Amino acid sequence: MRIAVFGAAGKVGSRVVAEGLSRGHEVTAVVRDPARIRELPAAANARSGDARSVKDVAELSAGQDVVISATRPAPGSEGKLVTAVKALLAGLDRTGIRLLVVGGAATLTVPGAGGTTVIDAPTFLPSIYRDLALACGDQLEACRAEAGTDWAYLSPAALLEAGKRTGNYRLGTDELLVDGEGNSTISMEDLAVALLDEAEQPKHHRTRFTAAY
Ligand SMILES: NC(=O)c1ccc[n+]([C@@H]2O[C@H](COP(=O)([O-])OP(=O)(O)OC[C@H]3O[C@@H](n4cnc5c(N)ncnc54)[C@H](OP(=O)(O)O)[C@@H]3O)[C@@H](O)[C@H]2O)c1
Repeated sequence: MRIAVFGAAGKVGSRVVAEGLSRGHEVTAVVRDPARIRELPAAANARSGDARSVKDVAELSAGQDVVISATRPAPGSEGKLVTAVKALLAGLDRTGIRLLVVGGAATLTVPGAGGTTVIDAPTFLPSIYRDLALACGDQLEACRAEAGTDWAYLSPAALLEAGKRTGNYRLGTDELLVDGEGNSTISMEDLAVALLDEAEQPKHHRTRFTAAY
């Protein structure tokens, strides 16, 4: 498959690029700052572009089967997250190219908490992440308002950290997945596995899904 990854030098994006290359896909790795191209694997097609530019999205996604977004604005600029997803959706509008968005866990409901979402559950969301969590909510709403692009929005577990690739994960829909001890975790490596599995064998269309151990 031909896969373009926006945010390719980021923590999640770099793992998505590595997972895609390890599966033999042709990966176009997109970074905003050309200086970061040197951080990308030599096997990737390195390009620079801004996910907030409809023109860049349309140009860089031409000929791709799937576009994966793993962008995250700097702290204090969280609102740029929704601008980026709107540009990605617009740039792919009616092209037939799928968009897979790495989103946030904040809008998932906490199991057994009467509909409370992660954003209102201090157990799962430290207050320093509240602005990003709110922006992720807007990001999901922008996807849900979209009719012309075949998108899927992946909410990670509450705790998403660098770790090991095990190849194991569980999938859910709108409720946070927790383990037997009430923890909600997944490694960035296994989140990348879940994303590439979805890219190769689509199961989610114009909907959100979640992945965790
Ligand atoms: N539990 C959770 O819900 C959870 C936890 C962690 C992360 N996440 C989500 O995972 C995603 C990726 O996070 P991360 O930790 O990998 O972030 P990261 O390491 O900061 O990487 C984000 C990358 O996006 C790039 N970027 C930002 N704006 C861009 C734009 N307009 N166009 C192109 N590239 C752009 C950044 O490039 P520059 O260097 O140029 O800024 C950076 O390389 C985010 O959506 C985040 O919300 C969710």
